[in-house]
Amino acid sequence: MIRSSYLKLKLLLILIVCLVPFYSYADSTNGESLFNRNCATCHKRTAPNILGTNLKEKTFLMIVKHGRAGTMMGSFKSKFTDKEILDIYTYLIKK
Ligand code: HEC
Repeated sequence: MIRSSYLKLKLLLILIVCLVPFYSYADSTNGESLFNRNCATCHKRTAPNILGTNLKEKTFLMIVKHGRAGTMMGSFKSKFTDKEILDIYTYLIKK
């Protein structure tokens, strides 16, 4: 009886350790590849280069989700989750 609950505890611990990466906070490697695939075409050529941005996280999120009316900056609301946009942000502010 004692043995089996010990085993359950061990299994639970293993499960937690395996799940942690999925819950880890914003990931800048992911952000880098998302940026290169979706934003760099404009943001390294025709649009302002946003590497090293000092925009606040919330402002950045709003701009990327809703775009800027009347400019080439479109809305990415249907394309990315908030977490993905924040991953991009994490990558950009690090530079
Ligand atoms: C089709 C070209 C294009 C693409 C693709 C694009 N942008 Fe933009 N973006 C622009 C332009 C042009 C502006 C400048 C708008 C203005 O004049 O205010 C802008 C502005 C921004 C700003 C505001 C910059 C500032 O300092 O005011 C942010 C943040 C931004 N883009 C993030 C992104 C992200 C993140 C992506 C990729 C998910 C992306 N953009 C993809 C064209 C683009």
